[in-house]
Amino acid sequence: MSDTTDPADLIEVNRVNWDERVVPHLKAYGAEAFADDPSALSGVVRDDLDLMRPHLEEGSVAGRRLLHLQCHIGTDTLSWARLGARVTGVDFSGAAIEAADALAARAGLPARFVQATVEEAPEAVGERFDIVYTSIGVLCWLPDLAAWARVIHDMLEPGGLFFVRDAHPMLYTLDEERADELVVRWPYFDSGTALRWDDPSDYADDHTRLENATTFEWHHSLADVVQSLLDAGLELTSFGEHRTIPWRAHPSFVEHDGGWVLPEGAERLPLTFSLTARRPQAS
Ligand SMILES: C[S@@+](CC[C@H](N)C(=O)[O-])C[C@H]1O[C@@H](n2cnc3c(N)ncnc32)[C@H](O)[C@@H]1O
Repeated sequence: MSDTTDPADLIEVNRVNWDERVVPHLKAYGAEAFADDPSALSGVVRDDLDLMRPHLEEGSVAGRRLLHLQCHIGTDTLSWARLGARVTGVDFSGAAIEAADALAARAGLPARFVQATVEEAPEAVGERFDIVYTSIGVLCWLPDLAAWARVIHDMLEPGGLFFVRDAHPMLYTLDEERADELVVRWPYFDSGTALRWDDPSDYADDHTRLENATTFEWHHSLADVVQSLLDAGLELTSFGEHRTIPWRAHPSFVEHDGGWVLPEGAERLPLTFSLTARRPQAS
């Protein structure tokens, strides 16, 4: 790879990395068992539904058109389909989209999966939705939150609901080599340049060693997340900070109730945040 800093080139490097994760993730996520069990829902969607329910008409997604940005292999998207939503998933990884299509066919669930970056999504999908959804491990892959927020606004019907839950930006500042203490090492604010990682390990499978180990990530402050949505014309309707995260995002974390938490003193640091926002009726 050349020494480019053009985000489009860095996104291509990330895409190759994400393509390679698809095969190990099909196993690590238990994708076939998920597809074969008509009552199975992903843990992420179960938790997200609890947070979204107060903002959904009659507390349900049934019959609603739902767009899932950065849908990966589709287990979360298909969980929404099982809850009655009419789902479309978007991901920039062709391998992930192929896997998601195959899982939908195996599960006998109607779903549309489209290969596109987040920024390409409006043109590639060509529809608007009642709900735009994105969750867990998504924002760090995006160089430009202003563009992200405009995509969300433009792909929602007026009055439509947006939901995001993701790692808390403070979590990304922690030194991942210090299991004994929470040590701030990396920038909280977006420095304007991507952070480069060369890490062959995978968050979902301890045995995986990735050949395409390089990734580029962008740190976004909580204010940048919220302000980008406000600037795009969305109205914030709820905001939360949470004490659990669905993957082992730091070596000190311990398993609890299907997720990961701080080993002690959970009050010290939020691990995830969530928010809902609406596209105003008259916009
Ligand atoms: C951690 S997954 C999030 C999905 C879900 N939480 C899961 O685990 O199944 C991150 C996804 O973002 C996708 N991705 C990364 N950068 C992207 C971009 N710029 N545009 C679209 N998708 C992207 C990756 O291919 C990957 O499938």
